[in-house]
Amino acid sequence: MDEGHDKGDGPGRGGPVGDDDYAVRAEGLEKRYGDKRALDGFDLAVRKGTVHGLLGPNGAGKTTAVRILSTLVRPAGGRATVAGLDVARQAREVRARIGLTGQYAAVDEVLTGRQNLEMFGRLFHLGGRRARLRAAELLERFDLSDAADKGVGAYSGGMRRRLDLAASMILAPAVLFLDEPTTGLDPRSRGEVWDAVRALVADGTTVLLTTQYLEEADRLASRITVIDRGRAIADDTPDGLKNRIGGDRVEVVVAERADMPRVVKVVARVSDGEPEADESEARVHAPVTDRVAALTEVARTLQDEGIRVEDIGLRRPSLDDVFLHLTGHRTDVPRTKEAAA
Ligand SMILES: Nc1ncnc2c1ncn2[C@@H]1O[C@H](COP(=O)(O)OP(=O)(O)OP(=O)(O)O)[C@@H](O)[C@H]1O
Ligand SMILES: [Mg+2]
Repeated sequence: MDEGHDKGDGPGRGGPVGDDDYAVRAEGLEKRYGDKRALDGFDLAVRKGTVHGLLGPNGAGKTTAVRILSTLVRPAGGRATVAGLDVARQAREVRARIGLTGQYAAVDEVLTGRQNLEMFGRLFHLGGRRARLRAAELLERFDLSDAADKGVGAYSGGMRRRLDLAASMILAPAVLFLDEPTTGLDPRSRGEVWDAVRALVADGTTVLLTTQYLEEADRLASRITVIDRGRAIADDTPDGLKNRIGGDRVEVVVAERADMPRVVKVVARVSDGEPEADESEARVHAPVTDRVAALTEVARTLQDEGIRVEDIGLRRPSLDDVFLHLTGHRTDVPRTKEAAA
């Protein structure tokens, strides 16, 4: 590696002959914690030079997958390669080609941004001068030059995550694992992190990004694997996934539950899919293509028919919608059953 703009081509590229277009491949990964199956036959294929989203709710197995792929944990079964190298048999070589940003930021609060990056550079044996150069370069790239000499304790959440990203890029890894890089950030900080991730990929790094937000996977990833209970339950482009769910939805919360069947009929007229009625929340929702026309039509009809509503609106599909469609259950159902199975 040098101090350079050589992302995917630095230490990272290559791998044995026969390596294909994939930066990450996993087949049938297994991992248990006690009788809990954290991974249960997990498959994944990530194309080189892309952002790949790994989308799933709490406890789905995202971090476990990332930990196995980044050689921190050994799988109990299955196999995986990263940059063409076997994560179990060639762990050391894999480690030289990857970067990892964990669910929680790893930077030191007391040091400045620049000191943090220089410290990481020295940890990676860059030597003083190259560590300084690399730090300056990364501060610039992640738009942290102005704050470079302030203590990290004074950074916003978004700045901190960007510094974390910069730290994981010290050696210009071929493959970068980002575990929920924007969880807990406000929308503006989230946008800043997204821009930083886009810049990395433009430089040739392959990114595997875990997230609980469909919107985030949609914005960044060219392909999304949905994980549930340790298994991939879908692997598709963002558009493919959204088409399966039906795109945007019109949603009505009725004032009187007794009106729900009538509301279902009204909503069905503008929808290109079956409306779903959620009795417990007095909510009816359905996929629509022409969102504004659909909303207007539903609002007018409900008023004409004298049906009182608590709320009416348009909603982009959420992770919950993905789950309901792929699995028939929501993300928040208790997931203890499989332990007994
Ligand atoms: N070290 C551990 N010891 C015991 N159980 C664990 C351990 N790590 C993970 N698990 C369990 O394995 C399952 C998968 O956990 P994992 O952390 O991979 O999920 P996740 O998708 O990253 O969730 P989150 O979105 O909350 O980060 C969970 O049920 C979790 O409780
Ligand atoms: Mg996790």
